[in-house]
Amino acid sequence: MEKHLRTPIKEIIGKYPPVGALLEEYRIGCVPCSVGTCLLADIVEIHNLSPEDEGTLMARIAGIVSPGQAVALPEPRDRRPATTRKISYSPPMKALVEEHGHIQRFLAVLPAILDRFDARSEADRDLVRGGLDFIRSYADRFHHAKEEDILFACFDPGLDILKAMREDHERGRAHVRAAVEALARCDGEGVAASLQGYAGVLAEHIKKEDEILYPWMDRNLSMHQVGELFERFRAVDERFAEDLKKYESFVGRLEDAHAETISEVR
Ligand SMILES: [Fe+2]
Ligand SMILES: [Fe+2]
Repeated sequence: MEKHLRTPIKEIIGKYPPVGALLEEYRIGCVPCSVGTCLLADIVEIHNLSPEDEGTLMARIAGIVSPGQAVALPEPRDRRPATTRKISYSPPMKALVEEHGHIQRFLAVLPAILDRFDARSEADRDLVRGGLDFIRSYADRFHHAKEEDILFACFDPGLDILKAMREDHERGRAHVRAAVEALARCDGEGVAASLQGYAGVLAEHIKKEDEILYPWMDRNLSMHQVGELFERFRAVDERFAEDLKKYESFVGRLEDAHAETISEVR
């Protein structure tokens, strides 16, 4: 089992596909992950399973990779059970989670905008231009830049989990570039497909950061680093203060304009 703990997860899943299904059962999304070089031991650590779940998962993996053999399982780490765990973030991480909240509010109204989008209408094109500006300025230049330039810089840049997060950011940017190009040629279907692709990437990405990345980072940052992050984030907030007000009110106006559709979806 020790050998498997030090093996990249994609290699294990490639050799033993039922391990992929088993990880999905524990809501550990290694199968769709674009990187997959995390070691099995790191995955268990990053996902912070309860000691009971960790023990059961390791025993079931051992049953797949070494069927019928008695194997020595690693001692589960002593942590609070995940089932009773409510994530409590440090102040700088909490600020990032709140920013996700604004992005999620925009993503919630996006289907209604795209449903009614008519590429021949100047007003509709203007509305989508506003949405693209929100994505590029608030979600990317403000929020993702805070993550990439400040938060991720506290950790080893070679970490697989950070590579996966940066790849998500790049995939999001590629969808946005495609949406901008489609809008310029008044291609309504192209705009809708690109923005739906963006929404899919971001929704999953935010979930991974809120539930896995940020709690893992909080467990690995010193008090001093948390204080420094808080100060550096505050400096960025001050620089963007006027824009933040503008984008928060933009999302509020969208919600008001599409209140009926949003409540139907919810
Ligand atoms: Fe991110
Ligand atoms: Fe984020």
